[in-house]
Amino acid sequence: MTAKKYAVIGHPIEHSKSPLIHQAFAQQFNLSIVYEKVLAPLDGFMATVKRLQAEGFLGANVTVPFKFEAFDASQALSARAQAAGAVNTLSFQSSQLVGDNTDGCGLVNDILKHQHTALAGKKVLLLGAGGAAQGVMLPLLEQQPLQLTVANRSLDKAQAMADRFAADAERSRTVLQVHTFADLSQTYDVVINATSAGLTESKLAIPAVVFKPGMLAYDMMYGRETPFMQQARAAGAQVADGLGMLVEQAAEAFSLWHGVRPETAPVIQSFRQS
Ligand code: ATR
Repeated sequence: MTAKKYAVIGHPIEHSKSPLIHQAFAQQFNLSIVYEKVLAPLDGFMATVKRLQAEGFLGANVTVPFKFEAFDASQALSARAQAAGAVNTLSFQSSQLVGDNTDGCGLVNDILKHQHTALAGKKVLLLGAGGAAQGVMLPLLEQQPLQLTVANRSLDKAQAMADRFAADAERSRTVLQVHTFADLSQTYDVVINATSAGLTESKLAIPAVVFKPGMLAYDMMYGRETPFMQQARAAGAQVADGLGMLVEQAAEAFSLWHGVRPETAPVIQSFRQS
């Protein structure tokens, strides 16, 4: 039997760990798969998707900067992709392009399974109101936190995002609030950094009161200690980077494509060691 073919599409793409992760998962089931890194030209995302379809690929993960284009191109969307407004997982079903988003589920699964932290009934602070933050809103609300506060440098963006999720928050009986960083005056059980501030090494202007010893401070970025992580660590928080989220979002995509759920802990551990 010929191996089923998958890919990750991005620009840049060289740094992507997705092929290693998906191959590690496939090994767990003695599955032989092809999983390629594909660099799409900035103006050539759809042409790349069409080429992969024509070459018999069955699906693709989508990364920066194409998640919104993948959303627009999808002919069918999961509820969580619709809520995220972005697609990171495409399935090529006959001639149809089906879009899903596994990022938020990846974050929640990492927090629950590997950070050993529940979200139900907790006070959660989400920093940022861009694409990354929007992608995790619905899965966070589905955990039924007591309170979800969205804080952003510019309040209008936080407000617009909260408005979009008002009905979901009501369904979860979660108190949804918006603040600027300077307005924050409460202490939280979980703080999640979904801003892109870590890319520029700039420190977030959040007051120290949000942290308490033992709480979980989670940065969705991975690969190095960000100023946010340093700030949280100094306050005695349990600190996590986004490596577990990366592996968990891949596991969810793998389950969608192959119908089986891989073990994530050994894969996370092997990346940490290397
Ligand atoms: P992404 O897809 O990574 O979410 P984005 O949609 O451009 O990227 O959103 C970036 C987020 O990081 C925004 O919430 C942005 O805040 P603003 O809406 O006020 O611009 C936030 N951000 C980026 N750099 C930041 C910094 N230095 N301090 C605080 N917030 C920052």
